[in-house]
Amino acid sequence: MSSEIKFHAIAAMSDESRGIGFNNSLPWSVPEDAEYFLRVVKTTFDKSKINAVIVGTRTWESIPKEDRPISPCLNIIVSSRASFESLEISPNADLTKIQICRSLDEAVKLVKEKYSDSVEAIYAIGGTQIYKDSIFSEYFDRFYLTRIFGHFKCDTFLQPENFLSYFKKIDSEQLEKEEKLFQVKYNSIQIEPKSGNHYVFEVYEKIKN
Ligand SMILES: NC(=O)c1ccc[n+]([C@@H]2O[C@H](COP(=O)([O-])OP(=O)(O)OC[C@H]3O[C@@H](n4cnc5c(N)ncnc54)[C@H](OP(=O)(O)O)[C@@H]3O)[C@@H](O)[C@H]2O)c1
Repeated sequence: MSSEIKFHAIAAMSDESRGIGFNNSLPWSVPEDAEYFLRVVKTTFDKSKINAVIVGTRTWESIPKEDRPISPCLNIIVSSRASFESLEISPNADLTKIQICRSLDEAVKLVKEKYSDSVEAIYAIGGTQIYKDSIFSEYFDRFYLTRIFGHFKCDTFLQPENFLSYFKKIDSEQLEKEEKLFQVKYNSIQIEPKSGNHYVFEVYEKIKN
């Protein structure tokens, strides 16, 4: 893989259960996290480049039709059977920003081979299998993880149970550039004013063997 293209994942997870979803939606309402997610995937250090997002079909379907594809990103949908027709793409969508691949590896390879001049970073954005395949990819770099505190009913979880044992948390001092770019404070517990939900933005890096 081109050494410049970084491969990350971004997710919000229940601190209690590793839950990420319920009824093909998010189990909580934390607008600050939803906004942070969009800032991260849409923003690049190099303004002449864009990011790519890799997404499973259920997560794709959970994005409101008018907001997909996530712009200006290259959106790669991973599915064993999806077609452009089945993805219910809105008529105004920029089709050049949508690709379908049959596996995570194929998606990463596609970016490496065809988009190395235009893509800065790849973000895996869920769900479970996409995150799991990403974590174990040899190219994987960072996990941008939001921990949401409290009790939430979930039916979709980050796997495997011990996935964080493959990572070490990055100190805030090493994230100054990202804090500025993504307008965020890492490793500091915050409160969502409406719901009272507590949450913390964290970044983990893969422990290299
Ligand atoms: N908290 C968060 O940050 C976050 C982020 C993302 C999603 N979510 C939540 O997670 C839930 C959806 O996640 P999910 O795990 O149920 O579904 P998903 O991964 O979004 O979609 C599953 C489908 O994607 C395709 N797929 C996924 N991995 C594949 C692979 N390696 N190879 C081939 N096809 C693959 C398959 O589709 P085909 O059947 O078409 O082959 C599979 O049935 C929702 O509740 C959503 O809100 C939460």
